[in-house]
Amino acid sequence: MRITIDQIKNMKKRGEKIAMLTAYDYSTAKVVDEVGIPLILVGDSLGMVVLGYETTISVTMDEMLHHTKAVVRGTKRAMVIGDMPFMTYHTSISDAQRNAARFIQEGGAQAIKLEGGVTVADKVRSIVNCGIPVMGHIGLTPQSIHQLGGYKIQGRTPEAADKMLKDALALEEAGAFAIVLETVPAPLATLITQKISVPTIGIGAGVGCDGQVQIINDILGWYTDFVPKHAKQYIRLTDIMSNALTQYYTEVKAGSFPTEDQSFSMDESVLAELTK
Ligand code: KIV
Repeated sequence: MRITIDQIKNMKKRGEKIAMLTAYDYSTAKVVDEVGIPLILVGDSLGMVVLGYETTISVTMDEMLHHTKAVVRGTKRAMVIGDMPFMTYHTSISDAQRNAARFIQEGGAQAIKLEGGVTVADKVRSIVNCGIPVMGHIGLTPQSIHQLGGYKIQGRTPEAADKMLKDALALEEAGAFAIVLETVPAPLATLITQKISVPTIGIGAGVGCDGQVQIINDILGWYTDFVPKHAKQYIRLTDIMSNALTQYYTEVKAGSFPTEDQSFSMDESVLAELTK
């Protein structure tokens, strides 16, 4: 049985911290699931860390569904959350419902995430009314990067902080089961966390949130184009990979790979027959 939204909401009530990570493929999702992480986000960060786009804006529904299916196949227990791509939920309530439904019906996800607060609250409500759990996302919302003018900390002025609190309350009221707070001053994230009943999941929002989310490639040192301040590199996977691949390259060139251990033998009489 997979983790449910009630279990996630109860973790907040019990004061139990919630861990969430992104994953984009079968093998990685399998490890994340086996470690026991209850929430796996197939984030549209896929576009940058896996597909090599400059921003998340280029990511399409088809790309998201392709990767969501792989993550679902690799997991048994975690709730898999599909990230709605840019402009797949803004145009109308029916577009938002239809695209959210695709994540559940075709992708096999158990929930969706979308960016925005007050302005998308009607879409959140309508998706929840279809029986689809919705995670909100406010603060730095990368799909609005051109409007925001860069990957900057959000909510530092009194007006911006007040707007963010209103966004969080609107999402809670619309039925979101949890809200991501991205790149928000820690004291503001703590205040929002205290003011709403659903869990906040922070990324660059301090330890006062109910949970934390990170992009898996950032914490594994597996995306080195840009390392955000909020990410802690637990290992540098690219260094480990680079060493292993250099060794492979050297051994192939030297003829020392493969050895007998990686080769297959055959009955000598068959060979003798052929070379007669
Ligand atoms: O796309 C993503 O990975 C996200 C996380 C940063 C929360 O939205």
